[in-house]
Amino acid sequence: MQKIAMLGSGFIGRFYAESVHGQRGRDKVTAIYARSEENAKKFADDYGCAFWSSNMEEVIAHPDVNMVCVALPNHKHEEAVMLCAKHKKAVVSTKPLGRNAAEALRMLQAVEKAGIFSGYLEDLCYTPKFLKSIESVKRGALGRILWAKSREAHPGPHSEWFWDIEQAGGGCILDLGCHCIEISRNFIGKDIRPVEVMCWADTQVKPIDAEDHAIALVKYENGAIGQFEVSWTFRGGMDLRDEVMGTEGTIWINNFLRTGFEMFTTGRNPDGQGEDYVAEKAESNTGWLFPVGDEVNDLGYNHMFTDMFNAAENGAEPAETFYDGYIVNAVIDAAYQSAKTKQWEKVNLPVWRGREGVEKPSNYVDYDENYYLIKQEMTHDGRNKLILKDKTTGKISERDV
Ligand SMILES: NC(=O)c1ccc[n+]([C@@H]2O[C@H](COP(=O)([O-])OP(=O)(O)OC[C@H]3O[C@@H](n4cnc5c(N)ncnc54)[C@H](O)[C@@H]3O)[C@@H](O)[C@H]2O)c1
Repeated sequence: MQKIAMLGSGFIGRFYAESVHGQRGRDKVTAIYARSEENAKKFADDYGCAFWSSNMEEVIAHPDVNMVCVALPNHKHEEAVMLCAKHKKAVVSTKPLGRNAAEALRMLQAVEKAGIFSGYLEDLCYTPKFLKSIESVKRGALGRILWAKSREAHPGPHSEWFWDIEQAGGGCILDLGCHCIEISRNFIGKDIRPVEVMCWADTQVKPIDAEDHAIALVKYENGAIGQFEVSWTFRGGMDLRDEVMGTEGTIWINNFLRTGFEMFTTGRNPDGQGEDYVAEKAESNTGWLFPVGDEVNDLGYNHMFTDMFNAAENGAEPAETFYDGYIVNAVIDAAYQSAKTKQWEKVNLPVWRGREGVEKPSNYVDYDENYYLIKQEMTHDGRNKLILKDKTTGKISERDV
């Protein structure tokens, strides 16, 4: 059984607590840290925590805590992780791991030096749809992965600190791009080095210093390309979609707005109300709605905590680690650099534990000893056509079979 200290009583702290307690969960949030005693007490009452405090170190060090869950604003992650290292408490942290790769690397090195369990709470790499997809990709159902795009766009975050570049560390690239980058990395292969990034970013709508909209390409050493599209200015809810393209197949995932559950309400019931809460960042509660059946599960929180707790108890690594969080931060640093210079920018990885010197596979597929195969297609007039390239002359020809 895990006895968890939750650091932060806000939006994600509450989602995490709902997930940990689950339907008949055996793990328990036993302690809560919040900035104010009042918020800590309220959270403790809501989730039955025996201990609450506005002193972070006291909560981490509490004897009835064996794992700490960091659910604080980005600028507090490093401080929290360092205290866990000091008190030798297992720690799992929300995304992004750091505000930049330097912070993330310090956190990674601190937990490794302290010899404590750590895990990166990247929930979107644990959604049921993602888990099923990654299994298919690993089995080779899509062949060689060529492109993995992930998009997260919504009308903007719910708390003031996100909009302050100093506390948040960035805008939508850091806040949402971290999910997208890790999703693409999983599909392309986590052992493949992300090499360079080209990014467009702008502040199109909000009166803030950070970017509120960005699109980027991430080149991987094996020739695959990752792509992310992120926005804090998208209207219409939370758009969470992934697309994967391989030599033998394709996956399209829509995690949130089109889940197969559609509903209409005029809102004119006797109380004059529409629906109450529809889904995270839904902008409307009347008209056509796209509710999410079980957000905690569909957003991956349940599978994520199961993996974290099992790994901690079995002395294993979870699927998402602090090392992964650090790689993601490094890709984001390159994206920010590229948005400034308008050039491809190298991903700087002082620590790299994946494969080295991977080459892009050849695109010349043998048809027979004389020809390469370009394509085979059945046409509407009943022909089964082959398009071939002569190995010696390079001439392209077609033939019916
Ligand atoms: N899907 C996800 O994984 C997901 C979703 C939302 C947020 N997050 C991450 O969770 C973290 C917290 O975000 P949130 O949405 O819960 O924010 P929030 O503002 O709803 O809650 C933050 C909590 O931290 C406390 N806090 C705020 N400023 C503080 C400070 N200076 N010192 C100490 N405590 C402070 C607040 O009182 C609150 O309890 C962020 O790192 C964010 O990126 C992850």
